[in-house]
Amino acid sequence: MSVIDIHNHFFPRAWPDLAARYGTPNWPWIKHTEPGKAEIMIGDRFFRHIYSACWDPQKRLEEMDRDGIEMQALSATPVLFGYDRPVEHALDCAQLFNDAALELCAQGKGRLRSLCQVPLQDVDAACKELSRCMRAGHLGVQIGNHVGEKNLDDPGIVTFLHHCADEGAAVLVHPWDMFGQSRMPKYMMPWTVGMPAETQLGIVAMILSGTFDKLPRSLRICFAHGGGSFAFLLGRLQNAWQHHPVAHGVSELAPKDYLNRFYVDSAVFDTLALKYLVDTMGAERVMLGSDYPFPLGEHHVGELIRTSDLSQHTKSCLLGENAEEFLGLRATTPGQSTATIKRTEPIQSEGHPLTYSSYLRVPELLQLQHPQSRPEHHDELLFIIVHQTYELWFKELLHDLDAVVANLQDAGKNPESHDEVYEAARLLRRCTEITRVLVEQFTILETMLPTHFLAFRGKLEPASGFQSEQFRELEFLCGLKDEKMLRYHRPTPEAHAQLERRLKEPSLHDVFFEALHAMGKLQIDRDAGERERFDARARAVLSLYRDEHSNRDWIDVCERLTEFDELVVGWRLRHIQLVERVIGTRMGTGGSAGSSYLKLTLDKKFFPELWEARTLLTE
Ligand code: HEM
Repeated sequence: MSVIDIHNHFFPRAWPDLAARYGTPNWPWIKHTEPGKAEIMIGDRFFRHIYSACWDPQKRLEEMDRDGIEMQALSATPVLFGYDRPVEHALDCAQLFNDAALELCAQGKGRLRSLCQVPLQDVDAACKELSRCMRAGHLGVQIGNHVGEKNLDDPGIVTFLHHCADEGAAVLVHPWDMFGQSRMPKYMMPWTVGMPAETQLGIVAMILSGTFDKLPRSLRICFAHGGGSFAFLLGRLQNAWQHHPVAHGVSELAPKDYLNRFYVDSAVFDTLALKYLVDTMGAERVMLGSDYPFPLGEHHVGELIRTSDLSQHTKSCLLGENAEEFLGLRATTPGQSTATIKRTEPIQSEGHPLTYSSYLRVPELLQLQHPQSRPEHHDELLFIIVHQTYELWFKELLHDLDAVVANLQDAGKNPESHDEVYEAARLLRRCTEITRVLVEQFTILETMLPTHFLAFRGKLEPASGFQSEQFRELEFLCGLKDEKMLRYHRPTPEAHAQLERRLKEPSLHDVFFEALHAMGKLQIDRDAGERERFDARARAVLSLYRDEHSNRDWIDVCERLTEFDELVVGWRLRHIQLVERVIGTRMGTGGSAGSSYLKLTLDKKFFPELWEARTLLTE
């Protein structure tokens, strides 16, 4: 059974100062108060407490696992809509958050998908941004239930909804900017009273204005918070429609006949209310929506549905099947199960076979470059892409080196088998070739003039290569473990935790020598000091080289490890040359002395015993 939450929110960890960016006050900003906690501020005004689930994909995944949720379709929050701002500001703001949503989802192991936001005050801009977002990988859009005085029956908004149907975009309508706030200054009444009424108004406006008659049936639209007060007051609406011509509107059918044209979510927080909602709307029209991770959201997502008295069939419709339909995730190929969404598989949109672009996630990839300079400096894109390319290769290196470690561990356990040693050497060869490319790649960045880099360098602080989690992981994995370096990862708890894990795990250096020990090639006295242990390890390597005939496969591993070590030193050297070429001997953005600090790292070696063995050989 698939379990999908279609109504939950995110906030990026940080975003640019919008008030400064647009020169207008009272934009939302995030104030981090303590690790994992923050406040959303609107200008000087406190708006809401939030915690790391808003921005940290790992935390979200952990809590999804805790609650048994397979997938979330996340959206930004209405305070970011900006419908009352100049369209260029609202569009820019929408793009920032839409791209941030994709970045977050990209780390969600296929379990996080997103709905975008658009500047709905301008139909053309809204349609264009929706199309861009759909191409980039969003599943649909979250909109407010009104734009100022305009309800959802406004011709411009109807055009936009038409466009959503054409694009196959799911639409989540969220109440916002609640009316009557001067009479509801206290007790969160805008949320508890205003929001349900706003949502009801949105649905009623669409029904009575004949908007549903004009829109294609293919439009998939859902109203948040169980549709607000709509279901409970449907009888009243129906009664007015029948008995008061003025309440009739221009719809072709009675209000009750439009219930199959829209969905509502399950965020009603009461089993009786949920049962009533399902009885009114039908089991195929209600979907799990939680308002997670906000304080007013469901605290154990899905609990209301799971603990209700609804039938198993109804529960599975509410928990996931309806959402598959709504989000356009349902497989339509004959014979294919409709309820299978594998966590890690790329998700295909309705009826589309895998393509080059969908397999490689090209649209998402091309959305991941966000220059900070304004006006944008031409070379900043190169700077970002070169670094991103390094990080991708670091990922592959970690992947391969982890496999080398596993093979060497197996080789130690089974000295008679040569397959694992062969495989370790084969993968190490790949690692050396990748590293060779990484050494070369710096030349591309050297086509950037120092003056050009200085033009946007100020925007990068305090970001620094010190914070490359994967680089440090590589060092730790190979055996250069330095706990002090963890301090650069305090701002990113998930990176910090991953590095702590690496610190505890056996390194490539450890498993290599453990394998030699298991094969009887390395003997170390229990009471031996550090220097004696080092010498013993170097002598073990020496013994391998002295009997080339018997140890060809292990010598091959030694040669690959030595070459890898050599190439990493080459990387360090080329990086220093690049740094000096671009910023001379200035300090780094991470606070180090710059090139003079980096020069100290040139002596670092992963496998010093392999080098020592060379000295011993010649003695
Ligand atoms: C204009 C280009 C670059 C400049 C000026 C530069 C500058 C620096 C400086 C000054 C440091 C020392 C730490 C600090 O104080 O910030 C550093 C560290 C680092 N940089 Fe770069 N860098 C550049 C490009 C790159 C590239 C393309 C990569 C590729 C991943 C990279 C990865 C690193 C790493 C991993 C460290 C940490 C090294 C260690 O601790 O041993 N840098 N960089």
